Amino acid sequence: MDDRFRTIIEPFRIHSVEPIRLTDRGEREARLEQASYNLFALHSDDVLIDLLTDSGTGAMSSEQWAGLQRGDESYAGSPSWYRFLAAVRELFDFAHVIPTHQGRAAEKILFTVLGGPGRVIPNNAHFDTTRANVEFSGAQAVDLPIAEARTPALEHPFKGNMDVDALEALLADRAGDVPVVFVTVTNNSGGGQPVSLANLRAVRAVCDRHGVPLFLDACRFAENAWFIREREPGQSGRRVADIVRDMASLADGMTMSAKKDGLANIGGWLAVRDDDLAEQCRNLLILTEGFPTYGGLAGRDLEAIARGLVEVVDHDYLRYRIRATAYLGDALHDAGVPVVRPIGGHAVYIDAGALLPHVAPLQYPGQALACELYAAGGVRGCEIGSVMFGRRPDGSEQPAAVELVRLAIPRRTYTQSHIDYVIEVALAVAARADELRGMRIVAAPPALRHFTARFEKLG
Ligand code: F0G
Repeated sequence: MDDRFRTIIEPFRIHSVEPIRLTDRGEREARLEQASYNLFALHSDDVLIDLLTDSGTGAMSSEQWAGLQRGDESYAGSPSWYRFLAAVRELFDFAHVIPTHQGRAAEKILFTVLGGPGRVIPNNAHFDTTRANVEFSGAQAVDLPIAEARTPALEHPFKGNMDVDALEALLADRAGDVPVVFVTVTNNSGGGQPVSLANLRAVRAVCDRHGVPLFLDACRFAENAWFIREREPGQSGRRVADIVRDMASLADGMTMSAKKDGLANIGGWLAVRDDDLAEQCRNLLILTEGFPTYGGLAGRDLEAIARGLVEVVDHDYLRYRIRATAYLGDALHDAGVPVVRPIGGHAVYIDAGALLPHVAPLQYPGQALACELYAAGGVRGCEIGSVMFGRRPDGSEQPAAVELVRLAIPRRTYTQSHIDYVIEVALAVAARADELRGMRIVAAPPALRHFTARFEKLG
């Protein structure tokens, strides 16, 4: 008999606060215009509730802050490095762990070694920087999500799964051009959806048949493992840490952003089993990031991550984390706002394409909705649609598969009343969705344009 009450409380108290500056609509509209309607260009103290990303925006625990004091800044062989290494290996037993300043630095190093023209990198879905790093190397990034992932409203317990048949077909044809298969846990571009252990095993079997290594983009590994525990037959009584170890055992390597499930504000790593690959990657690491026992990080950052990796697999933390995200998503869904179902681990994704059917994909319904959420209530989300993914490497524009606005929840940062406020703002905006107009891009760089593009509102 479980003695828990129904209410899932934040499993922490707050001991240091960051004031939020309240603003009104008039001020926010002016800021938006100054930012050319790009929410990345806002000053963050003009934002009330910042759901732009869950990356590096979480709150650290008192033990992590204490770890900062323990940080040893020796250039080589610091005890902080060995604590970091032990914490990573406790979950991910790879022979070589290569620290980097964040996830994309690990991607850049790996794809510099493995990518290149003529190569193809399959993934359940590449996130923005991963795709950009693959393409920058000259290789082709291919997304192979299961068919169910393409329908936002569809319920499926493991909507992050890779389409194993499509992978088989690709490898049967071109295995020689595929240096690595990636699986992103959880699938960020597709709604923060988990990948099952069964799917990982099936992908592994295909990779083995064709002699291709399998890597995890493991940014949100703990949230993925929690969903496995909750949803996969036979997994319910298990420790999340053991499920994570099972996930790792199926892979030949991983890239990681510690800014997500490392519970840290900066950091990442690349881990591999293969000695030769590790050596090539370390050589690049020394060139661009730093010596192999600190990568791009200070000793104190390594300490924060080492402790974060213990806290992130805590069941009380994960239960609260996943329920808090579902609390926001279910409230929007129950009120009739179209969202990606089921609700993901780190974020709620509003289906802007469905909410604004009168705005064409290349008039960026997600961008229009994200701007209005900010103007109406100071809530900053992030477009994940044709602004982020609509530009092809050849410079042409094609609509993305879906037009989403992601409301990402920083870890351990906002309380339930903050989220109640977000719900109120989102419902008010949704109620007059038919008044929103599309946007046009007036200037943008060739790659990762969403970060710096400038927009104009269409009349
Ligand atoms: N892979 C995935 C699945 C990610 O979500 C991210 C970052 C990265 C790799 C790169 O990691 O930022 O440490 O370089 N995603 C953030 C986001 C930025 O907002 O979802 P990084």
